[in-house]
Amino acid sequence: MAFPTTRMRRLRASPAMRGLVRETELRADRLVLPLFVSETTSAREPIEAMPGIERLSIAAAVQEATEAAALGLGAVLLFGIPAEKDREGSGAWDEDGAVQLAIAAVKQAFPELLVITDVCLCEYTDHGHCGVLRPDGGVDNDATLELLARTAVSHARAGADIVAPSDMMDGRVGSIRTELDAEGFVETPIMAYAAKFASTFYGPFREAADCAPEFGDRRSYQLDPGNGREAVREALLDASEGADMMMVKPALAYGDVIRAVKRATRLPVAAYNVSGEYAMVKSAVATGYMDERATVTEILTSLHRAGADIVISYHSKDAARWLSQG
Ligand code: PBG
Repeated sequence: MAFPTTRMRRLRASPAMRGLVRETELRADRLVLPLFVSETTSAREPIEAMPGIERLSIAAAVQEATEAAALGLGAVLLFGIPAEKDREGSGAWDEDGAVQLAIAAVKQAFPELLVITDVCLCEYTDHGHCGVLRPDGGVDNDATLELLARTAVSHARAGADIVAPSDMMDGRVGSIRTELDAEGFVETPIMAYAAKFASTFYGPFREAADCAPEFGDRRSYQLDPGNGREAVREALLDASEGADMMMVKPALAYGDVIRAVKRATRLPVAAYNVSGEYAMVKSAVATGYMDERATVTEILTSLHRAGADIVISYHSKDAARWLSQG
């Protein structure tokens, strides 16, 4: 006699049968491609820590958007790197800033391609923290809220489809929602980095965006990797303040959090497969011991299986290309 499990394994030898019973399917339109738009890059500038990823001029960002649209990706996620940084991070809400100009240029070229923007101050402050500093060096939560809201409104005004606050200040979703509504952007959704852990996996990003904190770390406002329940509590708070989608970051080591946040909030959940996760795959592939396509496919599939509706990945273009090749 054959056990049902044996039968299933044998059935999966046929591609049609495999398709019939597959639980999780990768799809290009659920992948989001992050782009680094820099005010000081004239075309493209490689990022050493992230092979294959570049800092982009606005024109180059539009070229990337062209590819993203052609590959059927779900969205691009824009980060800005300003020419000048200051104490408050005023470049974040500059209407002629790299992100604001890039949003307009991408939306003009591809009105159908969704543009998500990272709303944070750390790329714009000279000290590299995600908010305004108090005299004692800590981040002033409440003073930061107003600046984040101003930044989100400037993105919406430039044409952003979704704003994604990544700072982890308390109350930011509510204050951004209030400001967006007051300025007439009642239909602009907020994707909240609801569960953002204080992680070593952001290392390459900090080189890319030149935003490593000048002193200290981000542990006073980002989550402790040991705390899953606290992550759910943060997510519920963001939901109660009006978040429309949730994000969990990093992704790979946090499958349980992805699942828990989805269950608790019932909102769409995005998993951010961050820079260090990308760099790790790239170096493993460089040794020749791991195959890039197989590795990335397994990782992205597992994030969807954990419960992510959306995956943000530096591998998005590759994955979409592989999917189209079958
Ligand atoms: C903050 C922000 C960071 C990332 C996304 N938004 C860096 C940080 O918190 O230090 C990291 C993303 C990545 O590592 O790919 N604006």
